[in-house]
Amino acid sequence: MSPSKSTIAALYPQHLDTLQQRTAQALQRGGFDHLVVPSGTLHYHLFDDRDYPYAVNPQFKAWAPLTRNPGSWLVATPGERPKLVYLQPFDYWHAVPENPAGYWTEHFDIVVIRKPEEALQHLPRDAARCAILGEAQSALGDYVPNNPPAVVNYLEFHRACKTPYEIAMMREASRIGVRAHRAAERAFRAGASEFGIHLVYCQAALQDANDLPYNNIVGLNEHCAVLHYTERDRLPPKALRSFLIDAGASFHGYASDITRTYAYDTAGEFQALVDAVDSAQQAMCAQVRAGFDYKQLHLDAHLSLARILRDFGLINVSPEVAVETGVSSAFFPHGIGHGIGLQVHEVAGFAESDRGGTIAKPPGHPYLRLTRTLEPGMVVTIEPGLYFIDMLLEELKDRGLGPSVNWERVAAFKPYGGIRIEDDVVCTDGEPLNLTREQFAA
Ligand code: GLY
Ligand code: MN
Ligand code: MN
Repeated sequence: MSPSKSTIAALYPQHLDTLQQRTAQALQRGGFDHLVVPSGTLHYHLFDDRDYPYAVNPQFKAWAPLTRNPGSWLVATPGERPKLVYLQPFDYWHAVPENPAGYWTEHFDIVVIRKPEEALQHLPRDAARCAILGEAQSALGDYVPNNPPAVVNYLEFHRACKTPYEIAMMREASRIGVRAHRAAERAFRAGASEFGIHLVYCQAALQDANDLPYNNIVGLNEHCAVLHYTERDRLPPKALRSFLIDAGASFHGYASDITRTYAYDTAGEFQALVDAVDSAQQAMCAQVRAGFDYKQLHLDAHLSLARILRDFGLINVSPEVAVETGVSSAFFPHGIGHGIGLQVHEVAGFAESDRGGTIAKPPGHPYLRLTRTLEPGMVVTIEPGLYFIDMLLEELKDRGLGPSVNWERVAAFKPYGGIRIEDDVVCTDGEPLNLTREQFAA
């Protein structure tokens, strides 16, 4: 169910309160008086006057649902109301941002400016007392982003734990994504091309490349084996076997990240393999509990997927041996997931503490993006996969591990490419909350 406007409005003050508390602590750590955050500016293609789609500074959109406001600034000073310097330029070439409106505005002192440089009159007097979080090209006069590590580390570490307001945003991003996933499955079953399915998805989400949290991955048949396949054939293939779609949606700057895999023949063996991965994935989602080490979740996933490989006759060795020798990594060559929120791959996945430091990835698992212990409020993806990737299977042979694999069975599944199932799961004080399944069940 979509969060009503009044729910969002009711949750927002507590969110803002949390941000202000975190900011006060972060500034104290860094020895600054003010947090200053530019929303960012446009980037241009090299030797060209075309701009790239604007991507807002995540540190800015954390404060208010503003994702299309380049040239604006946020100022937070402990003990004071936050201030928003809001650029509404005189411009007849482009659409100009509307007047600031909505549930969040009453909590800010808002100044509307008409030219970017007018912001200078509204920023704290002494730039040297400011932690300025942004990219270099946002510099304005003395206000040059300095991104003090003590401040950034603190804010990014704690951002992993979402406020109830943020969970409501992500629930809505999931609702939109699942609506579009359903439309995409219908298009697949009706024989659409990869490109056609992508367009159906965008139409159903009412979002396109400028809005989506990442580039849609839409693959049919063997293309399901390419982890980040974004080519999109314009014509449908002659035979339809499988469909993998990894596509999310955005809501007020928050992301969902969802993958589903479908068999065209729902009575065949590939469907059975999809079902096995789906059951295993749900068991992994149940492990999203406070105090659980996410690294362990990843390692457990290898064992669970290796059991499926053995059950389907794809390997000739025990699941334990498949994991130890790296055979499971040839079939499951990416991490079990990552944090998600203001960015689809949320920051600070390896942060040891709010003062910095790194928690190493387990040896032999270079693509894991999150090594932290789960805490209530963290939102993570759980995205196991099994793929038939020539390059990685050849490597197994080169390493003398060919006899571990049943190549006839691999050949039978290769035309289907692979499987990934991905949900966004909230760690709570008790049972995990699966934002994706909640919407598929609705
Ligand atoms: N969509 C990219 C990922 O699943 O991480
Ligand atoms: Mn993901
Ligand atoms: Mn994904």
